[in-house]
Amino acid sequence: MIELKNVRFSVPADESNDGGGPTKTIINDVSFTFEKGKFYGITGPNGGGKTTLSKLIMGINPVTSGSITLDGQDISDMSITDRARAGIAYGFQNSARFKGTTFRDLLSIAAGTDDEAALTRIIAGLGICSLDFLDKPVDTKLSGGEIKKIELATIIARNPKVAIYDEPDTGIDLWTIGPMVEVLKREQKEKGTTTIVVSHNRTFLEAADEILMIRDGRIAYSGGLDGALPILEDLSACSFGDLCEGETDVRCFR
Ligand SMILES: Nc1ncnc2c1ncn2[C@@H]1O[C@H](COP(=O)(O)OP(=O)(O)OP(=O)(O)O)[C@@H](O)[C@H]1O
Ligand SMILES: [Mg+2]
Repeated sequence: MIELKNVRFSVPADESNDGGGPTKTIINDVSFTFEKGKFYGITGPNGGGKTTLSKLIMGINPVTSGSITLDGQDISDMSITDRARAGIAYGFQNSARFKGTTFRDLLSIAAGTDDEAALTRIIAGLGICSLDFLDKPVDTKLSGGEIKKIELATIIARNPKVAIYDEPDTGIDLWTIGPMVEVLKREQKEKGTTTIVVSHNRTFLEAADEILMIRDGRIAYSGGLDGALPILEDLSACSFGDLCEGETDVRCFR
C-alpha cells in the first residue's frame, strides 16, 4: 500500500533562480491511498502532473512537502535505489536506452538469474515479446514499441510489490495492447502487485479498479471509469486552439 499525504512538488518559477525566489507548484497537496493489490489507471490532460506524481512515488522527484509511505514506512526521504529495494519498480514514459547492453543483461539483473531456461520461461510467460529479443542491444536502434516491451518485461521479472508504468502503450501496436493489459492483470491477480498505469488508452483504463484523474497538479477525480468518462469527454471536446465554454482565453491545451 502506498499512501500519499498532502504531497506537494514545487520548482523555482524561473530556472535561473536556484532557491528563495518565487516557485511554481506542479503537484498541489495530493493525498491518496493506493491499496495493495489494486490496479489504478492515472489519466488526465497533457501537462497535468501524471508523470511528476509517479516520479514522486519512485523518488525520482523529491517531495517538497508532505509524505509518502510504503506499507506504513515513511519513504519520503529514501533514495531511488532504496525504494527499488523496498519493492517499487518504475517504467519511464521515455524509456532509457543502454548502449552495449542487451535485453538478456537487463532481464538477468531484474530476475536475479542468467539461467537460460529461467529467462526463456519469463519471456514465454509474458507472451508480448519474442525469444529473439533476448540478444538485442537495448540501444537507439530498437523501435519505440520494442523498448517499451523490454522495459515492461524487466519490471515484471523483478516481481515488485508496486509497479508503476508511465504510458506503457506508447509506440505499442494495436494488437499488443490487449495482451499487455492481460499480462499486467495477471501479475496483479496472481502476485498481488499494486499496479499503477499512467495512460490515455481506454483498454488500460477499462482494466483499472480505480481511475485517478490528475489535472493542474491536483486529483480532479477518483473512482470508477464510468464517472471519469464524462470529464474526459468534456476535456476532449475542447481541442487545441478552441475556447471551452465559459473560457475567455485560449488555454485549452491544459
Ligand atoms: N522539474 C520540473 N521543472 C519545471 N517544470 C516541470 C518539472 N517537472 C514537470 N514540470 C512541468 O509540470 C507540468 C506537468 O508535467 P508532467 O510531465 O507531470 O505532465 P503529464 O501529466 O505527465 O503530461 P503528459 O500527458 O504530456 O505526459 C508540465 O507543465 C511540465 O513542464
Ligand atoms: Mg507524462
